[in-house]
Amino acid sequence: MRFSIRTRLTFWYVSLLTVSLLSFGAAFSYSLFRIFMYRMDGQISSVANMMVHTVIRPSGQLFLPQDFDIILERFFGIRTAGNYIQILDQKGNLVARSSNLENFTLPISRDTYINALKGKTTFEVVRTLGRYPVRMVTKPIILKGKGHVAIVQVASSLEGMEAIFHSLAYIFTLWIAASAIIASAVGWFLARKALAPVAEITNTARRIGAENLNERINVSVPDEIGRLASTINEMIERLEKSFQQIKQFTADASHELKTPLTILRGEMEIALRSRDNEYMKEVIASALEEIDRMSYIVRNLLDLAKMDVEKESAPKEIVELDRVLSERVELLRRLALDRGVSIDILKNRPASVPGNQVRLSQLFFNLIDNALKYTPRGGAVGLYLDTEDGMAVFRVRDSGIGIARSDLPYIFDRFYRVDKARSREVGGAGLGLSICKEIVDSHGGYIEVESDEGRGSTFTVKLPLAVMD
Ligand SMILES: Nc1ncnc2c1ncn2[C@@H]1O[C@H](COP(=O)(O)OP(=O)(O)OP(=O)(O)O)[C@@H](O)[C@H]1O
Ligand SMILES: [Mg+2]
Repeated sequence: MRFSIRTRLTFWYVSLLTVSLLSFGAAFSYSLFRIFMYRMDGQISSVANMMVHTVIRPSGQLFLPQDFDIILERFFGIRTAGNYIQILDQKGNLVARSSNLENFTLPISRDTYINALKGKTTFEVVRTLGRYPVRMVTKPIILKGKGHVAIVQVASSLEGMEAIFHSLAYIFTLWIAASAIIASAVGWFLARKALAPVAEITNTARRIGAENLNERINVSVPDEIGRLASTINEMIERLEKSFQQIKQFTADASHELKTPLTILRGEMEIALRSRDNEYMKEVIASALEEIDRMSYIVRNLLDLAKMDVEKESAPKEIVELDRVLSERVELLRRLALDRGVSIDILKNRPASVPGNQVRLSQLFFNLIDNALKYTPRGGAVGLYLDTEDGMAVFRVRDSGIGIARSDLPYIFDRFYRVDKARSREVGGAGLGLSICKEIVDSHGGYIEVESDEGRGSTFTVKLPLAVMD
């Protein structure tokens, strides 16, 4: 089962908090316990030390009065209150004990006894004495020359400490439980607040369709979610643009095809009514021209559509641009001659690029065709092919009519023509340059134009060269 982000966030938040509180509680209790033990050990061992000095006479004899603890307190200032004191002889037999022990005897384990014989002091917790455990120190009394004479045991109850730790555990449990409950509520609220923009994004995205691509998500804060919203907005904007372009393209294409159809229809009607053979011939010739024009547009549109498909799976071959250029120019010489424009290859350096030969040839054709079309009689078209920084550079320079600065940004758009009437005269549909742009893009290159109105234009194409191995 998948939980919502909100639930997961809250869960992690609360778990982390609980784990950190638990570890804090554990570390705190442990430290407290160590401090407690340290102090208790200090206290019982100082009583034990005093006992050692008290029960030994200067002669080395053990001094064990009847009222053991009364004398201890009165003469030596050792208070037995809270401390259980016991003296054993060197064999481990009881010789004296403080009255608060009553009939109880502090136990001595084998290990502790052996330790004492070795002169070592042992600290331990004894649980077998009464209701509460006690902390006990066992210390041997060793005299110079006489060796091991007795063992002193001092113990103190851990009752107070147990009580403190029980209360502490109780307080910690309550505290952690309360924190977890409060943290769940706060976490749930915070997660909702943090995720509110996501809900807004979801709602807006759900509302957006082809009809209202102008809608945008409200971006209020520049945080991660704000950035996500801006990114989605940018994406919607691109979608809107593409949609707009498609709409525009469809409208333009229909319009472009409708014009020749209308003309065709008008001419046919006239032809139907006319009895003049010569006139009929003229009309049919004109109709054929319109049909050619329509075929030209349809062919170009098909090319554009095909290129959109090709983009994904274009097989790449090595294309020698210099050869393509020479061949193209040979084919266009006749056209140039008809138009009275000179055409010259001013530089043709060998350059090979990976790509589609048919398309690259079409690219050259479209650019040279434009240069010839938009250059008046007597003008010149110069062609250059060179290499530069790993790129093949192809340049078409003409001395033609040029393009106004205001038109430059649009000439690569589909169906865009600077002068519709003139273009129509020379047979242009406004698709040539948009096809060029598609071809250049799909080959990973770019195309630029510089133009001086009335003096001529230069189109420059740069394509990445093939890597020779
Ligand atoms: N070398 C040039 N000199 C002046 N104007 C140009 C030149 N090349 C293109 N243009 C302008 O840019 C417009 C768009 O060119 P494009 O090649 O896309 O269309 P076209 O030549 O009119 O038609 P098509 O190429 O589809 O037959 C042209 O109509 C023309 O106005
Ligand atoms: Mg053209």
